[in-house]
Amino acid sequence: MSATHAPSTDNWPQVEATSREILGQDICRFIDECRGGAEPESQLIAVLHRVQGKFGYLAPAHQDAVAQLLQVPAAKVAGVASFYHFFRLEPRGKFIINVCMGTACYVKGADRVAQKLIDELGITWGETSNDGVFSLEQARCLGTCGLAPVLMIGEQIHGQVTPDQVPAILESYLKKSRSEA
Ligand code: FES
Repeated sequence: MSATHAPSTDNWPQVEATSREILGQDICRFIDECRGGAEPESQLIAVLHRVQGKFGYLAPAHQDAVAQLLQVPAAKVAGVASFYHFFRLEPRGKFIINVCMGTACYVKGADRVAQKLIDELGITWGETSNDGVFSLEQARCLGTCGLAPVLMIGEQIHGQVTPDQVPAILESYLKKSRSEA
């Protein structure tokens, strides 16, 4: 396979303009630099990292725009995006709740805290609440075992959390989210 492909659509200017609009100037500048190199396809992962860094995940429209501008087959972009676990194909919540399931937290009841979060949010691991505010993830030791069981929400650590405290903790972030809206 050749390193670059000629645009295959007869409405290329329109496709290019739309793709550039979807990804924004900064990403497009990087893609243009990559296309100037010998092996643009080898930069695909780096491009996808930048796209995810900007948008938080790789939507089908992002992937298609990358395929068009980097001139890599769309199936290849979709394959790479779904193969690597560090790429996300779904939007993430405004606040990521990391529940520490390390040993110190587990023996102090992290599973009960986790179950309360699952019940309150109506989602499970890796999912995002319908209002887009929370995503729920498991973490290994967060390095604050003395505070077990521990949640990290955004950058904030919550220690010695009990299931009964979960609704109030969630409410404080909902308030924050509403005040920032
Ligand atoms: S095991 Fe949870 S912070 Fe260490």
